[in-house]
Amino acid sequence: MSFRTGPSVFKDRAKVSFDYLPEKLPHREGQLQRMFSIFRPVGDSGLAANAFLYGSVGTGKTHTAKRFCEDFRVYANKQGRGLDHVHVNCRQKMGDDAVLLHILKHFDARFPDRGFSIPEKIDSLRKWLEKQQVHLVIILDEVDVLLKKSGSELVYTFSRFGEEMGKGNVSMILISQRWEAIDRLDAASMSTFRRTNAVEFPKYSKEELEDILRTRVDLALHPGTLDRDIVDLIADVASEYGDARYAIDLLERAGALADEEFAGEITPENVRGAKASVTQSDLHERLAETDRPQKLVLLGIARRIRRKTYITTGEAEDAYGLVCEEFREKRRAHTQFWKYLQDLDAMGLIDAKKSGEGVVGKTTMISLPGIPAKLLSDNIEAMLKRRRSIQ
Ligand SMILES: Nc1ncnc2c1ncn2[C@@H]1O[C@H](COP(=O)(O)OP(=O)(O)O)[C@@H](O)[C@H]1O
Ligand SMILES: [Mg+2]
Repeated sequence: MSFRTGPSVFKDRAKVSFDYLPEKLPHREGQLQRMFSIFRPVGDSGLAANAFLYGSVGTGKTHTAKRFCEDFRVYANKQGRGLDHVHVNCRQKMGDDAVLLHILKHFDARFPDRGFSIPEKIDSLRKWLEKQQVHLVIILDEVDVLLKKSGSELVYTFSRFGEEMGKGNVSMILISQRWEAIDRLDAASMSTFRRTNAVEFPKYSKEELEDILRTRVDLALHPGTLDRDIVDLIADVASEYGDARYAIDLLERAGALADEEFAGEITPENVRGAKASVTQSDLHERLAETDRPQKLVLLGIARRIRRKTYITTGEAEDAYGLVCEEFREKRRAHTQFWKYLQDLDAMGLIDAKKSGEGVVGKTTMISLPGIPAKLLSDNIEAMLKRRRSIQ
């Protein structure tokens, strides 16, 4: 067929994609400078250093950490030192073994997925660093997931890396949405992440989001496709969360909607349309990370919690049983059910807490952080049904 075509508002759409790493990060100069103070001994004296970055979603933690490593490498090289960095998303690479494997694949893409124990992997990493003569900065992003799942042993190991030779050759940047993540470290590791090494990432104000958006607009859009008012509108919507990722996502989607109409410019209605589509797709992304049994557990919880704030694990397990019957799935044993709960908790899809006083004994209470139960159950049901029709 011949396609209907027309003007696009984008001159370079990649500049609004979520993995584009900007050269400049307006309003994060302070954080970058703090990180330089913390890491300076790495470049000047070959010592190890560690930092802990915390702040809510979309405050620029991941990109500031990556930008810092890129720029700091140039500094270190000028001091005659080799520097390399690797970014690990602990939400995707769960557990010590998966994290180590990801790091090793950075050095050797063909490093085998199976067949090497954790101590062997650590040894292998040591050899790579010696061979390449580099200091490695490991960014452990969303580190809570790793700490919840495997404890802090790996962080401890990294904090002692290369000490035999008197100087460390591994530094770490730990990233979390919550300051409390640091409480999950053991005492020995905690001492390397003192308050002085913590860098806070506050939410962006509306004015800050406007600056960030304007910089992106210049990079990604043709001139004259976007009114000043629209930047203002997007910044206003996103400032409720102080979230730059949301702001940029809205910009991209609004542009895509404008392109569907070949309008050649973005209208306020496009921004409203973009806003409606974001919530839905964000949830989809997160559910895509769960497997089928986890989805069944989550569906049970979402259905049972509808009109409540919390449910008990007993109630959750009952609801899970009903879901299994409905979808004709084998119901897993209690211990396995517990494991699913812990996984979902680690992924941030549910929040599981030991109840305080008042309730008989100590029971674990489950709540849903921020996601409407109906939206959650509708989406999981659709996903579970779709899967079955393919099989
Ligand atoms: N100060 C900033 N300037 C330009 N872009 C930014 C800034 N802060 C965040 N962003 C962009 O917003 C998105 C989210 O940032 P990210 O670092 O992933 O946030 P976090 O890790 O805190 O959730 C990324 O696309 C990033 O490039
Ligand atoms: Mg991040």
